[in-house]
Amino acid sequence: MARRALVSGGAGFIGSNLVKFLLAHGVSVCNVDALTYAANLDSLADLGAGDYTFVLADIRDRDAMRELLEQFDPDLVFHLAAESHVDRSIEGPAVFVTTNVLGTFTLLDVARELWTANGRAVDSRRFVHVSTDEVYGSLGDDGLFTETTRYDPSSPYAASKAGADHLAHAYFRTYGLPVIVTNCSNNYGPRQFPEKLIPLMITRALSGEPMPVYGAGNNVRDWLYVDDHCEALWAAAERGTPGRDYNIGGNQERRNIDVVRAICAEVERARPARTNEALAGKQYEELITFVDDRPGHDFRYAIDASRIARELSWEPSETFESGLEKTVRWYLENARWVERATSGEYRDWIDKNYAERLEARDAR
Ligand code: NAD
Ligand code: DAU
Repeated sequence: MARRALVSGGAGFIGSNLVKFLLAHGVSVCNVDALTYAANLDSLADLGAGDYTFVLADIRDRDAMRELLEQFDPDLVFHLAAESHVDRSIEGPAVFVTTNVLGTFTLLDVARELWTANGRAVDSRRFVHVSTDEVYGSLGDDGLFTETTRYDPSSPYAASKAGADHLAHAYFRTYGLPVIVTNCSNNYGPRQFPEKLIPLMITRALSGEPMPVYGAGNNVRDWLYVDDHCEALWAAAERGTPGRDYNIGGNQERRNIDVVRAICAEVERARPARTNEALAGKQYEELITFVDDRPGHDFRYAIDASRIARELSWEPSETFESGLEKTVRWYLENARWVERATSGEYRDWIDKNYAERLEARDAR
């Protein structure tokens, strides 16, 4: 059946990869994005054929969301729009609450208004709320997050996503809105903004700049290649049960310091330090610099993804090593994307063409 998907946050990292994935699967896609600093339209420059529209709007704007859902009339919503960076949430939490909590509320409530009649959900529509494993807080040396692990968020980012998840659950239980919540581990891959660990380290290595590791680098994350996440979101939308949560993870736990060393080794393979003038005779590992730890830094995340494997037949296809090789290659082959992302030039076109509407957004 032909599908119509509204993707919120489709100009961000996972969103832009998901837009490509959906178009490749013959889905008509409408991407709604407010074009914050995390949005990069360069990532959507090569979409090729497919039924795609872009709408500049803020998920907190109820009238805009209502008009969009009415006019585009999607049968699938993939809700990804969010403020997503933990360090920024520590510096300035307010926008995390308005976007992640109120923005999610607005989308859910508009969907309820349009998709339910007499207190019952209509037909085969699905609202996939894309969340994170950070809602569960931190693990010690052992154990895995399951779908029944108690929520215990540490950062303002994680707390705002937890709030959004609670609203999503409530909209299923109270109104029967066909919501599916996914909680995923750390993603990496092409088109990730170089403020997150893996793209930051790759771009810093290539430019010969310090590679800042928080604390002793012993914190552990479970890494998932972004295409595997897109497959999982599709499985959840196509085969998932409304009201059910699905944990998504790569089963690829690594300490941060080991991730950074693996990046040094992979970059060395692809562009040996001796051929990289920016290194001025150094080895990549010499760029590693231990810096102050992140406040409230969760020690370990690890996902038990057995429910989605068992019920929806989803499993990741990349190992950390195969995914990292693809990722490093992408950053090397897309030097112009990297240059525009790191210099801030990627904003020029957006600021020029959307000046008025961005001003209106910022006045909210
Ligand atoms: P990102 O920061 O790269 O992109 C977020 C996008 O949302 C940007 O394009 C931004 O412009 C847009 N946006 C922000 N505020 C908006 C608003 N008010 N209205 C409309 N659009 C807005 O994020 P990402 O890393 O691609 O993450 C996408 C989603 O997946 C988020 O909900 C995040 O919590 C979740 N998630 C991310 C990861 C990860 O490792 N990156 C893991 C699990 C879950
Ligand atoms: O677990 C899923 C989450 O993964 C998502 O919900 C978030 O949106 C996403 O940003 C990510 O959160 P993290 O905080 O785990 O990702 P980040 O890339 O910021 O950091 C990964 C680890 O690396 C973390 O332990 C902190 C550390 N780190 C990070 C940066 C940016 C460093 O040591 N140095 C750095 O410069």
